[in-house]
Amino acid sequence: MLKLIYAPGDGIGPEIGSVALKILNYQLDKYGIEYSITPILFGGCAIDAYGTPLSDSDLALIKQSDAVLLGAVGGPKWDSVDASIRPEKGLLKLRKECAAFANFRPAKVYDCLKNASPLKRSIIDRGVDIMIVRELSGGIYFGERSEGDHEAYDTEYYSYAEIERIIIKGFECAMKRRKKLCLVDKANVLASSRLWRKVFDKVASDYPEVETSRMYVDNAAMQLACAPYKFDTVVTSNLFGDILSDEASVITGSIGLLPSASVGEVDIYEPIHGSAPDIAGKNIADPIGMILSVAMLFRYKLNVDAAADEIENAVSAVLEKGLRTADIYDNDSIDTKVKICTTTEIGDAILNELEQ
Ligand SMILES: NC(=O)c1ccc[n+]([C@@H]2O[C@H](COP(=O)([O-])OP(=O)(O)OC[C@H]3O[C@@H](n4cnc5c(N)ncnc54)[C@H](O)[C@@H]3O)[C@@H](O)[C@H]2O)c1
Repeated sequence: MLKLIYAPGDGIGPEIGSVALKILNYQLDKYGIEYSITPILFGGCAIDAYGTPLSDSDLALIKQSDAVLLGAVGGPKWDSVDASIRPEKGLLKLRKECAAFANFRPAKVYDCLKNASPLKRSIIDRGVDIMIVRELSGGIYFGERSEGDHEAYDTEYYSYAEIERIIIKGFECAMKRRKKLCLVDKANVLASSRLWRKVFDKVASDYPEVETSRMYVDNAAMQLACAPYKFDTVVTSNLFGDILSDEASVITGSIGLLPSASVGEVDIYEPIHGSAPDIAGKNIADPIGMILSVAMLFRYKLNVDAAADEIENAVSAVLEKGLRTADIYDNDSIDTKVKICTTTEIGDAILNELEQ
């Protein structure tokens, strides 16, 4: 039986979460998957209730589960609490305890939302549909460091095994997409990158159907802005992935639209945005990032690609019909079918598409 933990969190988390949960329940039932969903308090709301962002008993539940569906955590209410129990601490602890080593961040520009992209129309017209597969639990963020007033250093350390497992995830992901994988590194300068290339070449021989390429990270940053249509799946280290996935996300127009998956012993599926306290409680947040995180759960945890495709197609259909939350609503649009909607209206419209 599939054991899921539902952690809506703070701010807009519960609003977008309740909408995403309906889609999750509907698709699990439709595909006859036996499941349990256990709600937990996580983040600021858990600090209020238990004095800690992630209680030991909830962590124990998570460790016995298959995946966590997360909203977002944090907000001004908890900005002044002791640093050791801040909501963000809970997030880092969750990722560490789940041993989530592979982070998948898609960035896609929908045809009907091309005007929301900051890039020139002539570039966007060639299509943007990128998946960045980022190593999440190693590299320079976790390497040996020293911090002094006169000198400081951080170390980029990767073992063969750490690189191999993320590169395999990259190839598996590329196989589910357009079968193109680009390794982004800095092999002209960094020894660790040269090991990434060796491992990449070795693993590539197991995936002859995948067309491979290698690109230095400085060039990749430029190509993402000038020619994002060149990319399909990208695999890279923690630091480079952190920067490039944010760059890729702005191309799409709104962070409200973007999902993510962090895969490991227990997977975490969550939108890429935060708790958006400025719009919380108004029923105006965009739930699409969290709904597409549910699609990723079907694709990457359950391997039920059909259920994921249906959710993604339902989202596209609703956007094509002109339904928009405020973040992607264009006041100047001359398209008469474009209509501003609430969070729940968008959720209901997507569910409606699935039911047809
Ligand atoms: N993974 C997480 O839980 C996570 C990630 C980032 C930030 N945070 C926390 O969230 C809080 C707010 O952070 P922030 O303001 O820097 O980032 P944010 O992502 O919450 O918001 C940035 C801007 O994007 C808008 N926005 C975000 N999600 C949206 C959605 N679904 N629909 C419409 N608009 C949306 C917000 O209204 C805001 O204007 C902070 O406490 C921060 O620490 C949590």
